[in-house]
Amino acid sequence: MAIDYSQKIPNNVQLADDRTLQRALEQWQPNFIQWWDDVGPDESAKLDVYLRTATSVDPQGWAHFDYVKMRDYRWGIFLNPAEADRKIHFGDHLGEAAWQDVPGEHRANLRRIIVTQGDTEPASVEQQRHLGLTAPSLYDLRNLFQVNVEEGRHLWAMVYLLQKYFGRDGREEAGALLERTSGDENNPRILGAFNEKTPDWLAFFMFTYFTDRDGKFQLAALSESAFDPLARTTKFMLTEEAHHMFVGESGVSRVLQRTAQVMNELKTDEAQKVRAAGAVDLPTLQRYLNFHYSVTIDLFGADQSSNAATFYSSGLKGRFEEGKRSDDHVLKGQTYKVLEVQNGQLVEKDVPMLNALNEVLRDDFIKDSVAGVGRWNKVLEKAGLPQRLVVPHKAFNRKIGALAGIRMSPEGRVVGEDEWKAHEAEWLPSAADRAFVGSLMGRVVEPGKFAGWIAPPAVGINRQPVDFEYVRFG
Ligand SMILES: [Fe+2]
Ligand SMILES: [Fe+2]
Repeated sequence: MAIDYSQKIPNNVQLADDRTLQRALEQWQPNFIQWWDDVGPDESAKLDVYLRTATSVDPQGWAHFDYVKMRDYRWGIFLNPAEADRKIHFGDHLGEAAWQDVPGEHRANLRRIIVTQGDTEPASVEQQRHLGLTAPSLYDLRNLFQVNVEEGRHLWAMVYLLQKYFGRDGREEAGALLERTSGDENNPRILGAFNEKTPDWLAFFMFTYFTDRDGKFQLAALSESAFDPLARTTKFMLTEEAHHMFVGESGVSRVLQRTAQVMNELKTDEAQKVRAAGAVDLPTLQRYLNFHYSVTIDLFGADQSSNAATFYSSGLKGRFEEGKRSDDHVLKGQTYKVLEVQNGQLVEKDVPMLNALNEVLRDDFIKDSVAGVGRWNKVLEKAGLPQRLVVPHKAFNRKIGALAGIRMSPEGRVVGEDEWKAHEAEWLPSAADRAFVGSLMGRVVEPGKFAGWIAPPAVGINRQPVDFEYVRFG
């Protein structure tokens, strides 16, 4: 599946044969570039960035790396190849042919799903727009920009679906995706976590570890969809998402490595001493983790949701790795355990599984997240330190669902307002933590040099050396 780069909008969907769509997309394109210039990466227009660009949707199609000005990145529309005779493999339409068009009765729900996913893509670019000014190295700066251009392309992926399959409504929604702005009081992004700030690089690494992983799970669930163009689009997006999570996981790992080194050199675990030596202390890392984890798991929605049941039964959105599961893929009459608070205690209760599918996806996400935190702890273990990072209880600091607003310690103990107040600054990043982390941030642009709070990576990008000039300042 080669991508046609001879066109204004690179694509593998034979865009040239669809005049109406081509016109709609070409009208949207200048608005996208305007959006990129207005709220995309700050002061980046003149930089030459060593970026990878997809040349085809085969696994080998990622091999192309070169210097690009981000504004000239070849954003386009790339779908995974169609599967011949693909069948719907879950829900009430199980066994029927997958849809190549949008069935009228599912139109509103599908549009809502695509808009909600699409909205997160430009949101994260907006959230990350100032980070380039304080990048700890050229290597990290390049990785940030790679994530940014790919989130931009993910927006294209969703806009393609809206404009091709949803007519006038779709065109309006595509326009609105460029109008909402992360954190804007009057016209914010749709989901909470995408209106939070990503003010520093520790937040960026936590975001790409946790929140891009939410992206992975949402996209994986959509890649099961009966609506075939959505399934194919999201499958290709998943190949890009893997790099984003790598940036987060390896980023936090390198911060930890540096912290552990400082702790060993100074033979101390005192936060103030670690800070004075210019590294991030472990309690602060833990608080950042607590924040990003809890805000991200809210993205999966309410633990009981009739929408989730409808989306599944009608075939719009499957479970993570639906095809690998051995149950009946209809789920009627099955139950799942969700949490609630009764008499000041967390208790489990059984509810119909179809209504609990947000919780099912959240629990799959949690398993995946915990595994990576275990790999972070290996860094501490290797350094001979006894401390460990811990994923907080899933009821901690929740704003959505049955657990919203319940005061909970990170271990999952229901606490009163007084106890919460007394410990909040131990459990979540305080203004002072953020100010401290902020004080470490400063741009490092000499090839091979790294800021003092983060260790260099073990290897470079695309087998280039670590001291390669990943970004050229013209
Ligand atoms: Fe994305
Ligand atoms: Fe992403």
